[in-house]
Amino acid sequence: MTVEAPARHFYFGSNFKMHKTLAEDRAFIQTLLDLNASQFDLQLFIIPAFTSLGGLQDTPRPRNLWIGAQNMHWANSGAFTGEISALMLRSIGVDLIMLGHAERRHNFGETDIELNKKAISAAASQLRVLLCVGETAEQRRYGVTDEVLAMQLKIALSGYPADCLERLMVAYEPVWAIGAGSQEALPEDIAPSIDQIRHTLETLFGQDRALHIPVLYGGSVNRDNCGGYVQHATVDGLFVGRAAWQPEGFMEVMQTGYNAWKRKRGGN
Ligand code: 13P
Repeated sequence: MTVEAPARHFYFGSNFKMHKTLAEDRAFIQTLLDLNASQFDLQLFIIPAFTSLGGLQDTPRPRNLWIGAQNMHWANSGAFTGEISALMLRSIGVDLIMLGHAERRHNFGETDIELNKKAISAAASQLRVLLCVGETAEQRRYGVTDEVLAMQLKIALSGYPADCLERLMVAYEPVWAIGAGSQEALPEDIAPSIDQIRHTLETLFGQDRALHIPVLYGGSVNRDNCGGYVQHATVDGLFVGRAAWQPEGFMEVMQTGYNAWKRKRGGN
């Protein structure tokens, strides 16, 4: 059964991965300001490299733009050379932490258990959490997508405090649909996975709370396909890489996706 989402916001963000210097990130945000991105009644976010996070705090930005980080350690401090804590991110005003991106899971061996420690630590520091989940092509071929999504969510969110759920978002990013040379997912490919994510969130937190957790779709989203992904009743936004790395592309995909999302929900 598909459940109707409660009235809520649309979310649109971009993971900049290992791209852009501080100067380039500042120019990106300035263009968003020039293009009047804050006129839209939706929540925007960008997730730049660590080296930009401090410098962006005093950069003027649209009022509806969160700045996020791409990774963190679960400890607040300690002998963890090269790592950065939730406390440090909060201390410079970072809004959001992305956890469990496929590139971190698969290139750097990040596990669900580590992600659980990170999620709990982020919650304790009042950071918003964007937890990324998704199956590989191989897992999909074996027909275990539902099991993989349930496992990733159940472990990463084990013990996640109920009073921090309003700062939690989930991104469904099938690994086979991410990045250059990947396969583009069809809206009908993603629907069962979105339902499975909702179902698992309900199991974890109860139906009411689960329905208020934004679930975004990411993976080769672009201007032409974004309208299809938001047709699903409980997709609340889009999480974009390549197609949003230029501010004009960011604005175009955002507006196209947002308009399709509003039309689907009977807005104008
Ligand atoms: P692409 O949109 O480039 O496939 O990247 C998606 C992504 O990894 C967002 O985190």
